[in-house]
Amino acid sequence: MTVVSNRNYSSFGSAELEAKTHGNTDDALVIRFRKLLLEEVDLAELSKLDANQRRARLERVIAHLVTREGVVLSTSERNGLIRRVVDESVGLGVLEPLLADPSISEIMINGPETVYVERRGRVERVNATFSSNDQLLQTIDRIVSTVNRRVDESSPMADARLPADSRMPRGARVNVVLPPLALNGPTVTIRLFPKAFSLEQLIGFKSIDRDTAGLLALCVEARLNMIVSGGTGSGKTTFLNVLSSFIPGAERIVTIEDAAELSLDQEHTIRLETRPANVEGKGQITIRDLVRNSLRMRPDRIIVGECRGGEALDMLQAMNTGHEGSLTTVHANSPDDALSRLETLASMSDVVIPFTAIRDQVNSAIDIIVQLNRTLDGSRRVTQVAFVLSRRQEEFEIVPIMRWDPERRNEDGTTGAFLRYPLPEKLIHRLRLVQMQPPTDWTVTA
Ligand SMILES: Nc1ncnc2c1ncn2[C@@H]1O[C@H](COP(=O)(O)OP(=O)(O)O)[C@@H](O)[C@H]1O
Ligand SMILES: [Mg+2]
Repeated sequence: MTVVSNRNYSSFGSAELEAKTHGNTDDALVIRFRKLLLEEVDLAELSKLDANQRRARLERVIAHLVTREGVVLSTSERNGLIRRVVDESVGLGVLEPLLADPSISEIMINGPETVYVERRGRVERVNATFSSNDQLLQTIDRIVSTVNRRVDESSPMADARLPADSRMPRGARVNVVLPPLALNGPTVTIRLFPKAFSLEQLIGFKSIDRDTAGLLALCVEARLNMIVSGGTGSGKTTFLNVLSSFIPGAERIVTIEDAAELSLDQEHTIRLETRPANVEGKGQITIRDLVRNSLRMRPDRIIVGECRGGEALDMLQAMNTGHEGSLTTVHANSPDDALSRLETLASMSDVVIPFTAIRDQVNSAIDIIVQLNRTLDGSRRVTQVAFVLSRRQEEFEIVPIMRWDPERRNEDGTTGAFLRYPLPEKLIHRLRLVQMQPPTDWTVTA
């Protein structure tokens, strides 16, 4: 992973970045030069320039002002000061380095002085602070105004999806709650969308091996229903995106998500996203509403970002009635657990159906479960691919097709290997039904 390079950090070393994140530059100087800058230049005028040009122009002006005012600073202090003044005048200030950091998945601002981030699944406090409440409000305004939204005293809550742009390299979902509703001060939660990794990258990270990926690609093409299972941050969405890339380009795909994180390359893709209730508690559109609606949109495939409620039942029904080849993710620790979880979620639906009928739906719908795990060193891996054998109302019976064995010693001295198991007859049959040849080189290693 690399830090997105179309930003202007290149001319600054990490020490400056560090100083900026940690707010070491003298706040009084920043405020003083920001004020001077605003007296000297018309920001509205500059808004016609693109972000990089505007930044370069402002940097020159501030450098000039610093010299004119006779402030004595070291080169790095001077650069840090210039950068902060520009950031606070046009950019997202202390948030910029956080937004550019690929290891951060969430930024949580609890008032001007408290900023937390989630990094590799862990929440930690960072030293970044805003110089005042006003500055934080101004930053919020800059964030939401890109999507023509406003938050102020009269409408103190906002939830918006931000497209990727020069300031937000990955796109994000942002939620804002202002006082008097938020007692900590302006509160902002920014969920940064994961960078879409390609299959080649996942193979490069040893998250999956090429043969298993090839088999899964066949299964997607053959319209088997699949679920990706894993814990929070185990890479489910990322893997779902890769699985989706195996869908043939001629098919009509409808994706349904709480926050549109998936980025499919297929042209014929319809992206749907839920909407939270407004301040009066009205107008909510749930995953479930969208799944039901999508059935009327003539989809070839339905992809649901995550099943975590009653929509599981609708999803199972869709998978069983002509929308084979649909994909979703579920929060579970093993393939077995994933099936039970789907069963539980489906029973949360407002449609009352007997338990045995739900079991039947799960058994008929789900063909393949891809289990992901996050390891202690922060890497993510497909730890199992399992096939569902059980039918109708039988107890769940699943067999592994591939399993990661962390202890296996390899010839080259490394440990850990993807072990292959015999392909179940039923799977081979499913592939042959659609004139697809099961892989002949699936040499069993377990
Ligand atoms: N195979 C992988 N290797 C390394 N990092 C990954 C991998 N898959 C996902 N990630 C990263 O892990 C974080 C969580 O991924 P995400 O797909 O959102 O997980 P989930 O949907 O399970 O919460 C993201 O920052 C993402 O870029
Ligand atoms: Mg996810």
